[in-house]
Amino acid sequence: MKTESLASRTRLLSPSPTLAITAKAKQLKAQGHDVVSFGAGEPDFPTPEPIVEAAIKAMRDGLTKYLPTPGMPALREAIVAKLERENDIRVSPEQVIVSCGAKHSLFNSFMTLVDPGDEVIVIAPYWMTYTEQVAIAGGKPVIVQTRHEEGFQPRREDFEAAFSSRTKAIVINSPSNPAGAVLSRETLEWLAEQAVKRDFWIISDEIYERLVYGASAVSPASLGPEVADRTVTINGCSKSFSMTGWRVGYAAAPIEVAKAMSNLQDQVTSNATSFAQAGALAALQMDPMDIEHMREEFEGRRDLILKLLRAIPGVQIETPMGAFYALPDIGRFLSGGIPDDSALATFLLEEALVATVPGSVFGAPAHVRLSYAASREDIERGVARIGQALARLSA
Ligand SMILES: Cc1ncc(COP(=O)(O)O)c(C=O)c1O
Repeated sequence: MKTESLASRTRLLSPSPTLAITAKAKQLKAQGHDVVSFGAGEPDFPTPEPIVEAAIKAMRDGLTKYLPTPGMPALREAIVAKLERENDIRVSPEQVIVSCGAKHSLFNSFMTLVDPGDEVIVIAPYWMTYTEQVAIAGGKPVIVQTRHEEGFQPRREDFEAAFSSRTKAIVINSPSNPAGAVLSRETLEWLAEQAVKRDFWIISDEIYERLVYGASAVSPASLGPEVADRTVTINGCSKSFSMTGWRVGYAAAPIEVAKAMSNLQDQVTSNATSFAQAGALAALQMDPMDIEHMREEFEGRRDLILKLLRAIPGVQIETPMGAFYALPDIGRFLSGGIPDDSALATFLLEEALVATVPGSVFGAPAHVRLSYAASREDIERGVARIGQALARLSA
């Protein structure tokens, strides 16, 4: 078969640069090597029991048929209540669209808001899906770079340089994957002011909002009615409730946007899985204190991985304030033999049997991402091996 016979949009998609390293890690594991993996972007806790029970009960009770495309009414109402209680966002149930994961909600948003040629501002380091989905919608991602030594906080002048007459939207992800950066209220207020003045959309991916350590994440849609009127808030159950495989996410948007997203979803997937929605409803009804132990454990692991990474001469890392990723600067170790972060990640896998993700995947060259959604024992073993391998490299 000739690849030219595939639709041209397939050529817009970049093959995942992590695939090669993941495949290699799997191969080494299959050969019996003891690989420590810092690659996974998902909590390692089981889904809490009340959520599992609710989904089983729903299935037994016959909640196994089509539902309304935008979601089960009770779940949409629970999302409305959650947004008001925790995010100071006021919406009606008609403004909430439940989808197959936050990733799907993001796709619906880009397909609904972005026309070919429109520009979408994405703050680097970024989750690669943003730039890929913008491209699928025919848009152009415009990258605003941040700096490691500034805690990955964006500068106003960099936004000023990025804005243009084609700016259609900005993606906010606070706390962020992969830097764990939490944007200040001041930055968000300024960005919201710009969105109103320059007439663009804010797409706010709040999937890591509960995983914060001494910081608090502000929802742009809470910054006033004019801002809410141009904001799509995205969230889901994957990270806060350890429900990555359930595939339930949601968007809350101005009514016209929500209707268009629902019409789009109607022709693509219809409703998110019925009994998974029952699980999501149980999740949103849980006492936040019942899942606090997961946040606390991630905070402890963050402190541990930071301490261990900082003890390696030449590794630099700022304190991530949220999510479950560490993004150390490994620029000091790059040279002729190991020219970039991809080569360093391959070196760490081959020499130290530790899987990391090269930073260039996220628009952060000279960094590697380590997910600390791994046991404390693995964190200790894995970072010790990284330290030894880097010491050999320096020598
Ligand atoms: C920033 C960010 N948003 C969204 C998602 C996807 O969430 P979901 O599992 O709900 O599709 C991820 C998963 O890695 C993520 O890192």
